[in-house]
Amino acid sequence: MYAITVDEPGGPEALRWTEVPDPEPGPGEVIVDVRASAVNRADLLQRQGHYPPPPGAPAYPGLECSGVISATGSDVADWRVGQEVCALLAGGGYAERVVVPAGQLLPVPAGVDLVDAAALPEVACTVWSNVRQVAGLRRGETLLVHGGGSGIGTFAIQFGAALGATVLVTARSGKHDRLRELGAAHTIDYRAEDFVEVTRRVTDGRGADVILDIMGGAYLPRNVAALATSGRLVVIGLQGGRKGELDLSALLAKRASVTATALRSRPVAEKAAIVRGVRDEVWPLVESGTVRPVVDRRLPMAEAAGAHRLVESSDHLGKVLLVTPSR
Ligand SMILES: NC(=O)c1ccc[n+]([C@@H]2O[C@H](COP(=O)([O-])OP(=O)(O)OC[C@H]3O[C@@H](n4cnc5c(N)ncnc54)[C@H](OP(=O)(O)O)[C@@H]3O)[C@@H](O)[C@H]2O)c1
Repeated sequence: MYAITVDEPGGPEALRWTEVPDPEPGPGEVIVDVRASAVNRADLLQRQGHYPPPPGAPAYPGLECSGVISATGSDVADWRVGQEVCALLAGGGYAERVVVPAGQLLPVPAGVDLVDAAALPEVACTVWSNVRQVAGLRRGETLLVHGGGSGIGTFAIQFGAALGATVLVTARSGKHDRLRELGAAHTIDYRAEDFVEVTRRVTDGRGADVILDIMGGAYLPRNVAALATSGRLVVIGLQGGRKGELDLSALLAKRASVTATALRSRPVAEKAAIVRGVRDEVWPLVESGTVRPVVDRRLPMAEAAGAHRLVESSDHLGKVLLVTPSR
């Protein structure tokens, strides 16, 4: 098969469409013939050598895929060869075939095209596990999403609105119209406006009940300032650095919490539990059309370098898909 390999860590030109050995399924695993994968911000770090795959994970980049099951290992009861699926991966999605633990498979939701289904697993699992499991967002609460135009952000807006929350987002101004169409009640241009001040103003001084943060250290004190009483800040990205200063008295006064989670390094059993939760709580919203994959564009997988340049520029909105050559 062919896969995108990284010769030497570096720029997008390090990504090459190369012939590599086919994967073999172990017990409890299946092989998926990949139709599409999607670029995640973490893939850029992996390409640069800063985010190696966890032990046992395929070496190639790619944290999600869609495709067709072509083989099953022993101990796989619920899935069969020929089924169309999408999957959460620890790596290896940028390839014609990938090995997947059966617990990380999801059916392609009714009404979603097989290629577009590759846009869903990583964002659905990340957003559901953080916004629902960790932060417990409830109807009537306010959710502030940083990076509303990202793959994560475009999903979080729709999911938060579907839960009955008021969704605020930060994004560059050129993306605001589209983000309001997706369900954002208020858009904040983080380059020109202070998100703390806007959050307080539009919540009548209360602040946000839940903040889904991708900026890390750079936003930490201001995120705490933007939280409501009993607010929950969940940090999932460190685009603004890993270190920040936290005034604990601000947390005490608000009885607020700060949590940080990463999905990729979680054990297979925890990922399977998240995938089950997504299937139960998120897939019905996708199948009813309330939450949709947001796809900026599809590119041939062999052009992964161009896709990485695009995502690095942040000129995209939603997900950039990588489609395998048709067989
Ligand atoms: N912890 C986990 O398990 C997990 C899982 C998946 C993703 N993530 C993280 O989630 C984040 C989004 O991932 P993705 O793949 O969806 O990324 P992406 O599509 O590449 O989007 C990155 C976004 O960052 C935004 N941004 C840059 N500077 C900003 C600032 N100062 N304030 C607000 N937004 C800013 C950009 O928005 P503009 O274009 O508007 O500037 C862009 O939309 C990444 O940090 C990623 O590492 C974490």
